[in-house]
Amino acid sequence: MKGILLAGGTGSRLYPLTHCTSKQLLPVYDKPLIYYPLSVLMLADIRDILLVCAPDSLAPLQALLGDGAHLGLNLSYALQREPRGIAEAYVIGADHVRGQRSALVLGDNVFHGSGFYDLLARARREFTGCALFGYPVSDPGRYAIGEVDGKGELVSLEEKPLDPRSDNAVTGLYFYDQDVVDIAAEVEPSERGELEITDVNREYVRQGRADLVQLGRGFMWLDAGTHDSLLEAGHYVELLANRQGVRVACVEEIAARMGFISAADCHELGARMSGSAYGSYVMDIAQDLTGP
Ligand code: TTP
Repeated sequence: MKGILLAGGTGSRLYPLTHCTSKQLLPVYDKPLIYYPLSVLMLADIRDILLVCAPDSLAPLQALLGDGAHLGLNLSYALQREPRGIAEAYVIGADHVRGQRSALVLGDNVFHGSGFYDLLARARREFTGCALFGYPVSDPGRYAIGEVDGKGELVSLEEKPLDPRSDNAVTGLYFYDQDVVDIAAEVEPSERGELEITDVNREYVRQGRADLVQLGRGFMWLDAGTHDSLLEAGHYVELLANRQGVRVACVEEIAARMGFISAADCHELGARMSGSAYGSYVMDIAQDLTGP
């Protein structure tokens, strides 16, 4: 299964933070925001990833992540010259995913919860057309909202509904079969001039081939797209680090635990950051994995 990480966009809700920096490079406590969605693809056992970004952020993103080999990944890059909508990921990334199943994750989405690896593995095994991931929210009027039947199949999708039929928000992680390229190619710009991912998803709903996988109450999901949510995400990650000694979305740790790199390679990555608590954590993880 291939991956696309969509890391373009304007980031206008984060101005002036994003005047000369990509949103995806902003810090969420101890690491750049992009580590969080990248770690989701890695947990889904996806290693061949296309990173779609704005022209200005290509150089810093490449400086940060390179070709991904140090994490056992194969990262390539493509430009989105203007933010023409999320579904454009599958126009730009058509050649990357053609003929294969794929996952798309949005560059500003933070997911965390126990059992996430198992949930992703199961969704991967079981989806036929597409799998979307639903999260209960208190303000459904701000999101795309999905309604499911008794079998977990999506029966309707409403964009920012005034009178929501459920509180199930569709999050920024999507699994698709190989038809997504053709479906995305047919999508017309919406009133706001964007290729809407909801239009792609609605086609799968129309075909009766869309699942909504439920992320339960014990789960945390947010998009770090506003000043408040960026800070909230940072506080959440800080709390887990300080209370439990767990670092969310530590890509070096995930690479080692998933078997993408060896414990020795993981230790080496930590050693290069030994001046920081993050680097010490990576070295400790490598030591644990090596055993006594
Ligand atoms: P949004 O938060 O919808 O858009 P944005 O990042 O441009 O921010 P703002 O609304 O504050 O101007 O985007 C969600 C994610 O998808 C984010 O990580 C950026 C990415 N994205 C693109 O890469 N290209 C696009 O055309 C769009 C619409 C979003």
